[in-house]
Amino acid sequence: MKKFTIGAALLSMMFTGINAQSLKSPDGKFEANFQLKNGVPFYNLKYNGNVVVEDSKLGLRLFKDSSIKFASEIAKPEDASFDLNNGFTKTAEKRDAKNETWQPILGEKKNYINDYNELAVTLNQTSSDRSIVIKFRLFNDGLGFRYEFPQQKNLNYFVIREEDSEIDFPTDMKAWWIVADYDSQEYQYQTTKISEIPTQWPKAFDSNASQTLIKNAVQSPLMLKKEGKEPLYVNVGEAAVLDYPASHLEVDAQNFKFKTHLTADRQGAKGYIQTPSTTPWRTIIVSPKAEVVMDSKMMFNLNEPTKYKDTSYIKPTKYMGVWWEMIIGKSQWAYSTAENVHIGKTDFSKLTPNGKHAANNTKVKEYIDFASANGFQGLLIEGWNTGWEDWFGHSKEFVFDFITPYPDFDLKMLNDYAHSKNVDLIMHHETSGSASNYERWSDKAFETMNKYGYKSVKTGYVGDIIPRGEHHYSQWTINHYYRIVEKANDYKIMVNSHESVRPGGESRTYPNYISAEAARGTEYEAFGGNKPDHQTILPFTRWMGGSMDYTPGIFQTKLDYYFPGDKRFVQTTLAKQLALYVVMYMPLQMAADLPENYAKHMDAFQFIKDVAADWDDTKILSAEPGDYIHTARKAKGTENWFVGGVTDENPRDYTVDFSFLDKGKKYEATVYEDGKDADYINNPQSYKIYKKTVDSKTKLPIHLVRSGGYAISLKPIK
Ligand code: NOJ
Ligand code: CA
Repeated sequence: MKKFTIGAALLSMMFTGINAQSLKSPDGKFEANFQLKNGVPFYNLKYNGNVVVEDSKLGLRLFKDSSIKFASEIAKPEDASFDLNNGFTKTAEKRDAKNETWQPILGEKKNYINDYNELAVTLNQTSSDRSIVIKFRLFNDGLGFRYEFPQQKNLNYFVIREEDSEIDFPTDMKAWWIVADYDSQEYQYQTTKISEIPTQWPKAFDSNASQTLIKNAVQSPLMLKKEGKEPLYVNVGEAAVLDYPASHLEVDAQNFKFKTHLTADRQGAKGYIQTPSTTPWRTIIVSPKAEVVMDSKMMFNLNEPTKYKDTSYIKPTKYMGVWWEMIIGKSQWAYSTAENVHIGKTDFSKLTPNGKHAANNTKVKEYIDFASANGFQGLLIEGWNTGWEDWFGHSKEFVFDFITPYPDFDLKMLNDYAHSKNVDLIMHHETSGSASNYERWSDKAFETMNKYGYKSVKTGYVGDIIPRGEHHYSQWTINHYYRIVEKANDYKIMVNSHESVRPGGESRTYPNYISAEAARGTEYEAFGGNKPDHQTILPFTRWMGGSMDYTPGIFQTKLDYYFPGDKRFVQTTLAKQLALYVVMYMPLQMAADLPENYAKHMDAFQFIKDVAADWDDTKILSAEPGDYIHTARKAKGTENWFVGGVTDENPRDYTVDFSFLDKGKKYEATVYEDGKDADYINNPQSYKIYKKTVDSKTKLPIHLVRSGGYAISLKPIK
């Protein structure tokens, strides 16, 4: 426990009495308090009268902007005279409340409830005569707060040196975290106490194509648990990260305290602001139940409703892809053996084919046939366009033009063929991190998509960002992602981005931003593996602010099938792969394995064919981060339900309680579960499938083997 002197307690009581504003959640269980202590803003948070967040400081440090020469400003010793973190007096206090129900275009439930009480305090820094507003919204599942900068005589333009928003916890909690990095989130989760983060940090990452690590800091959303008789689950994140850098959390391991650390730009600055402006929301979701935390829609509620006039083109999409065979190294994105190519100059038809180019007419047609025969709407094809020979690792700006196909890929013929079979090809725009190049070409690229009838695009940002020195999560690059998403909306195109910043509920405002990777996805099963607890943590972290393109569905989990002696394997059972379609919310949902592998297991593949991608309801039946998740979802516009469950490295028994079903109705359940002898290392493809009639009173025991899982589809019996 932390030292807490009587003097400090007395002092804090005095201040509470003098200059504190208190806010209650609509259900009265949460209380947030704001106060100025000697002109410095602090807040705290209580749940059922117990302190969840101790008095924690708020404020920002700024650069002097008089001449906007930031590079030279940055070199100078820090000058505190311009900071917005002290010398404040409270000049106004405004309260507000909302209780609305809104419908996401695509979502986990038909209705999302946005119910909060709000407190906005206006603070004036007397010495500089500048005013800021700190706004708190207290929901029934926790707190959001942000800074607002009204336009005013003395605050028009400024540059942020750092945002110093603290979250000070009273006790050492269990934490599920990944290392902080300005460029990558593709890390394995660590499970330690807050106090152990610094010791574990140096062992917590592997290498990445673009990497700027921040020592002793972790990424958000960060999942925490106060263990003991009265457990409390806490999720720390951020929402509405727009025109601002993404933030990380610096750890003070002795005091169990975190502090924001914004992603720096090429100059080391952390946000160029023109007033009026607001920061993203800092979010603290809290509940004694892990299920409630996972189910929270707070991050979405803290984003603005969409202004899009037409959202009719935004549709849930199930897709396959000419993809996994490149990821595992069986095929290639590149067409030729050349090592140095020039877009617009090199005649690709004259190059020597490497014989491993997957995106060729014959193979793509086979994939289209299989996708069509099995009811998939989409087919992603990577490596269709020129430039892959030297796409990566050369800091090359003009890597791709996004419009020119390789000689063996007939853009028109393949799209016509796909459409004749009710399949839409999914465009792939790998930028290789060269965002500036993508901005130059995006209109032409989207026009090409419209011309041939592509409805969605997968973008990618592998490698260091160009403009050089920018980062994947710095303000410029975040603005780039949304410029592209807005432009895609002009062309009625849905976007799924890889290596972009993780979401904070922004899809409420930008509903065509239907998915993103922004974490360690299934591809890493071929690049070193994902630990068996990985999928039990992601829904508590990466998923809190928006869906992920996790690309599950690998049936041939052992790669020695392709390459004798190859030790790589997908670290789950086959049945756990099925469970991921329910446990992970994915309106853009991939069946990632090769058609030939599905063809061998058509009985298990049936689940992927049947499972929905858009939902009227979701119930998190039971969940514990790092251990297990059991989820039930009701498919949009139908009476069909799907249930899925996954476990970590431990086998588990679980009893599915079907009380969520309509009373009195009978359902035909098809159960897909681990075989008795299944094992994610030794026998991953052992599964059993059976049918059973169930109703709301049924309790069905299921055994999950280590890193195993199960999936159930339920249809009402008419
Ligand atoms: C990394 C992405 O995550 C992956 O899905 C893609 O295939 C490669 N980049 C190439 O664009
Ligand atoms: Ca990736």
